[in-house]
Amino acid sequence: MNIIVTGGAGFIGSNFVFHMLEKYPEYRIVCLDCLTYAGNLSTLKPVMDNPNFRFVKESITDREAVYRLFEEEHPDMVVNFAAESHVDRSIEDPGIFLQTNVMGTAVLLDACRKHQTLRFHQVSYGRLQKVWDHPLSSGIDRRGIWGSPP
Ligand SMILES: NC(=O)c1ccc[n+]([C@@H]2O[C@H](COP(=O)([O-])OP(=O)(O)OC[C@H]3O[C@@H](n4cnc5c(N)ncnc54)[C@H](O)[C@@H]3O)[C@@H](O)[C@H]2O)c1
Repeated sequence: MNIIVTGGAGFIGSNFVFHMLEKYPEYRIVCLDCLTYAGNLSTLKPVMDNPNFRFVKESITDREAVYRLFEEEHPDMVVNFAAESHVDRSIEDPGIFLQTNVMGTAVLLDACRKHQTLRFHQVSYGRLQKVWDHPLSSGIDRRGIWGSPP
């Protein structure tokens, strides 16, 4: 199994990388991370020498780089942790959130479709409750898509 983990130098992604390499030592884990202020390469130091681990410093928004990586690695699965994740910063600069969290995710999905990568796990910020509670959402029945509200 060959897995591309994006955002693997961040908080949750790095722990996922450690977990996978420990639990499934035969898997190959390729970490794609452009190392924003939130990413820290030294976090991944314990696995840098693992022959089943590769680190690639690129952005998920860089279509050419992402497609190239898919061509090199032929991943069976992609787990996307790469994101702008700090809500306070989204108020100051929403554009980068759209670039990374929306457009970057779209690039990954396009790459999966192009290379027939059948599993894509999106890890994101689950604020569905806010959608359900918002007055503008009243009358919109999303249960068919996301299940019953919590
Ligand atoms: N930390 C939490 O408590 C929590 C809770 C719920 C959901 N989440 C969600 O889980 C995901 C990961 O959270 P986290 O806390 O690990 O985030 P984080 O901010 O610690 O890490 C994000 C990682 O993504 C990388 N990154 C950012 N933009 C990138 C890009 N364009 N290309 C490649 N890499 C890029 C950063 O360098 C960093 O390593 C986010 O979507 C977040 O909203 C986090």
